[in-house]
Amino acid sequence: MSLLQLSDIRVSYGKAEVLHGVDLAMAEGRIVTVIGANGAGKTTLLNAAMGVVPSSGTILYRGKPVPPSVEGRVAAGMCLVSEKRELFGSMSVEDNMELGGFLRSASERAEARADLYDRFPRLKERRKQLAGTLSGGERQMLALARALMSRPKLLLLDEPSLGLAPKIVAEILGIVAELRSTGVSILLVEQNARAALEIADEAHLMELGEIRRSGSTDEMAADPAVVEAYLGGG
Ligand SMILES: Nc1ncnc2c1ncn2[C@@H]1O[C@H](COP(=O)(O)OP(=O)(O)OP(=O)(O)O)[C@@H](O)[C@H]1O
Ligand SMILES: [Mg+2]
Repeated sequence: MSLLQLSDIRVSYGKAEVLHGVDLAMAEGRIVTVIGANGAGKTTLLNAAMGVVPSSGTILYRGKPVPPSVEGRVAAGMCLVSEKRELFGSMSVEDNMELGGFLRSASERAEARADLYDRFPRLKERRKQLAGTLSGGERQMLALARALMSRPKLLLLDEPSLGLAPKIVAEILGIVAELRSTGVSILLVEQNARAALEIADEAHLMELGEIRRSGSTDEMAADPAVVEAYLGGG
């Protein structure tokens, strides 16, 4: 049984259809990446999976129709880290994290917080700092940590590498790769195909609102079309 199964997903903004019947299934315990150029529809696909934008088609989560509301999906263990991060800049690092755990009890939150401070020592050092004053890499870590406060089963990650220096990209994606071993499954959207293919198990290439190619990351990294368009020819 797939953890998440998207079938014939279509999304329109006004009259313009931007996802034209996307099929994608992912098994539990995997990192699955969707790569593709600007405007391909990657963010729209994650937003449809989370219920942030309306879609037609079928979304099964653990073999059953996904709850209709975003809140219901969060309660079922899904969590989206959006491209915009959506942190509260005038609140502290710690208070931003607490918001991520709003569905959890105080003791679950305390446990999750301790766990996350081990994983993100830099956030622990800066827990009283206002989120608006963090560096780009720290903001991305906070967005991830806040999502993890909800103890998700399925993390939908939209471009965690966006705007970050290569060294920080490697650090963030290293943390994402480690999450898999803690039982979190990850659907990772990336323009940085090279970095995404390094940590994922499977990859899908999205172009103009359709999945054009799918395979293991090894197969995709060896596919001449992927290499030429997305890996810079080598
Ligand atoms: N709210 C919206 N209203 C109208 N059109 C939209 C809206 N959001 C996205 N689009 C359009 O839908 C298409 C897909 O956008 P989407 O953000 O999903 O692409 P993307 O693959 O995530 O791109 P990027 O890599 O730049 O983030 C684009 O043509 C975009 O302009
Ligand atoms: Mg996007």
